[in-house]
Amino acid sequence: MPNSSVREYLLSFANAYQSAFALAAASELDIFTELIKRNGATLSELSKALELDERRLNYLLAALVTMEILAKSENLYVVEEQFVPYLDSRNSATVLPMLRHQANCARGWVQLATSIKTGAPAPVIPGVNDEKVEFQDFILAMDVASKRFVSSITQQLFEQDLLHFEKLLDLGGASGSYSFAFLERNPNPKSKAIIFDRQEALKEAKIKAQNTELDNRLEFYSGDFYKDPYPQDVDFVWISAIIHQQNEETTAQMFRQSFNSLRPGGLVAVRDVFINEDQTGPRAAAFFGINMAIRTEQGRVYTVGETVNLLTEAGFQNARLAIPAEDMGAVVVAEKSPSL
Ligand SMILES: C[S@@+](CC[C@H](N)C(=O)[O-])C[C@H]1O[C@@H](n2cnc3c(N)ncnc32)[C@H](O)[C@@H]1O
Repeated sequence: MPNSSVREYLLSFANAYQSAFALAAASELDIFTELIKRNGATLSELSKALELDERRLNYLLAALVTMEILAKSENLYVVEEQFVPYLDSRNSATVLPMLRHQANCARGWVQLATSIKTGAPAPVIPGVNDEKVEFQDFILAMDVASKRFVSSITQQLFEQDLLHFEKLLDLGGASGSYSFAFLERNPNPKSKAIIFDRQEALKEAKIKAQNTELDNRLEFYSGDFYKDPYPQDVDFVWISAIIHQQNEETTAQMFRQSFNSLRPGGLVAVRDVFINEDQTGPRAAAFFGINMAIRTEQGRVYTVGETVNLLTEAGFQNARLAIPAEDMGAVVVAEKSPSL
């Protein structure tokens, strides 16, 4: 007997992308910032200011009103008050880089079936912004994402007596979201952090450092961590949201190089989203696996067990899940023996 609610359940997924795409397009076009700057605007004012097609923009604005992100009164569109800090590109609380990064990802997701069929990442479809802007959005999106995890991870590492380094190596540290937090929480006021990333990514970290009192405790090491030597003599290696972009061989190599750069008694910590042994969840891990399949040649999500084994094979001891989580907030740690 057909069950209509079951049928509707299935069909509800079919157009679930539409609201995500509406939000993504509005973010890429920076519609929200423009509306906030102007304290509201009519359709024609907005289309002129941003040089957009009025007829098409009309429906996007209507959709955003139905999503209760915009309100319309007397032909004036405004951003609903509660969202203003998050949708203004000038505000430090903005989540726009993440929304725009998701727009970039979405252009890959539309090609998911083809990617699975061909066994190749989805070809890049250009958006309205150039590659440089997209890369900067990606780096700043990582900072937006970190806001969800950084305080709790810092606190938990501290409580487990794992945050007492002299020299931290933040591998692929982007704008330094974790380096800054760890330096602030570390009881050793002379401790330093080295952020190892590509030159373009380090720009954001340098800007951030100028606005804090931590700038003399930060070093910026620009390079390619697949080719360039790692800084040596560190006592904490932080590998956050990195291993999912690469296959097991590369991760094994990264763990060996981390081991070699550590002093005896040093610690490595790996933050990521981990899939369960059955490959059936959690949801964030399953969906992140899709993201990596589309966007990278070799990327994947690891299980905790695989990560622990790879760390152990690299020479570490006592590898374990120190912070469990069903999302990107999980952390596996391991130690280099003090006697090595
Ligand atoms: C997903 S982001 C994670 C950023 C940060 N660790 C965090 O947890 O928020 C990956 C970072 O690794 C950097 N990265 C990727 N491949 C790299 C490479 N081959 N050499 C240096 N940095 C790299 C990227 O520029 C980016 O900043």
